[in-house]
Amino acid sequence: MNDVSTSTPVDPETTPEALIERFGRDIINDFDLDDPKFNENFNETLNFMVRKCPVVHSQVGRGYYLINTQDEVRAAAQDWKTFSAAQGYMPNRPEGIPFLMPEECDPPMHTRWRHKLNPHLSPKTVALMEDAIRADVNELIDRFIDKGECEFISEFGTLLPGWAFFKNVLGVPLEDLPALVNGVEEGTFAPDLEERSRHFKGVFEYLNKHLTWRATQPSRGDLIDTILAGVTYDDGTEAPWDHKVSVLVDLTFGGIATTTFVMGSALHHLATNRDQLKMLIEDPSLIENAVEEYARFFPPVVALGRTATRDVEVAGTPIKEGEFVMLTYACASRDPRHMEEPEKVDVRRQGIPHSTFGVGPHRCIGSNLARLELTATLEEWLKRMPDFRIKEGTEPTYVTGYLRSMRSLYLEW
Ligand code: HEM
Repeated sequence: MNDVSTSTPVDPETTPEALIERFGRDIINDFDLDDPKFNENFNETLNFMVRKCPVVHSQVGRGYYLINTQDEVRAAAQDWKTFSAAQGYMPNRPEGIPFLMPEECDPPMHTRWRHKLNPHLSPKTVALMEDAIRADVNELIDRFIDKGECEFISEFGTLLPGWAFFKNVLGVPLEDLPALVNGVEEGTFAPDLEERSRHFKGVFEYLNKHLTWRATQPSRGDLIDTILAGVTYDDGTEAPWDHKVSVLVDLTFGGIATTTFVMGSALHHLATNRDQLKMLIEDPSLIENAVEEYARFFPPVVALGRTATRDVEVAGTPIKEGEFVMLTYACASRDPRHMEEPEKVDVRRQGIPHSTFGVGPHRCIGSNLARLELTATLEEWLKRMPDFRIKEGTEPTYVTGYLRSMRSLYLEW
């Protein structure tokens, strides 16, 4: 935070007046992830914060801090004893939402679950899904290619991650996907916190029912059976039923609420930068690195929270025990202290030091699956519709909170 009471010269760009003029609010002393102006000025706000403000504060609700710079985000994400996930990752968490395992617990409980779950989403396991996911990409494209246009988000972007996850990992019926996607979206972005809570509970109820049903079925040796088998915690107790349901909810949220934004943003970027499109078509071997760069620059997870377990200081800002602290992974991935021209999308960038998939014990369990979905989408799309563009008279629409999502993207070819 900017301490205006010290004698150090004040940067004229960070005075409350300058901030209100530029961002519509004092984003250093009163940031708001849900402010529609943040949604509109997303890139400019991230770029500004990472350069100028290692830590900012929000006065919304019970209040929270955001840590923005890469070194500080990495240190806090790894120091789970000081920055605990056990009181949740959402700022101003609505009442009554059960905690999600493994996201909302700390080691050693967290380690028990990750140890069991990791093999189901390891690079080796996910590689076996490649043919099926590529076939899904093509099946979705088949549905609209002859129309010469599509609304990418509803006709592809939300479907592919859902199919990939439901068919290959969870085995949940595909016809239930739209209701679950809606529950996850509204549970994250509904403007009213009670409404969020209602949608969140709907997702819990659905997955509780599914898990209850699977418990009556013969074992398939899949991820659901691993969840049903559960874990033994360090005190010798078995994970209760509620924890098992919450693992499924956590995986579902991660599986369907994130990858869509990277996909949509990558296609939008290619449609509006013809030189970049040409480069990937002429040299598809660049796609693997491009996926990494798009994940860095188009981060669906803006920031996730922790609770300080003791008084601590981050980049000069004192944070008291019990305060809520967000790790702004989206800012940390464009820290100029760690890369040249972070505000530029450069698919030839080497050794991309991003934190899009998180850092530390909670690092994304689904990153291999997400990368595969993105690579297959770009490769197949560029083969089948190399000359695509934004539909005239349209622009993509977005929604932002602690996650960022694209709501619509009209493409034609
Ligand atoms: C581009 C796509 C994705 C992005 C950017 C992303 C990002 C992240 C981030 C930043 C975290 C760290 C959370 C923290 O530090 O508190 C995380 C955790 C997690 N992600 Fe992902 N994710 C993606 C895709 C997926 C997929 C496809 C799945 C499911 C198959 C998934 C499941 C999870 C789960 C269960 C966690 C919690 C892990 C834990 O607490 O140990 N994610 N993800």
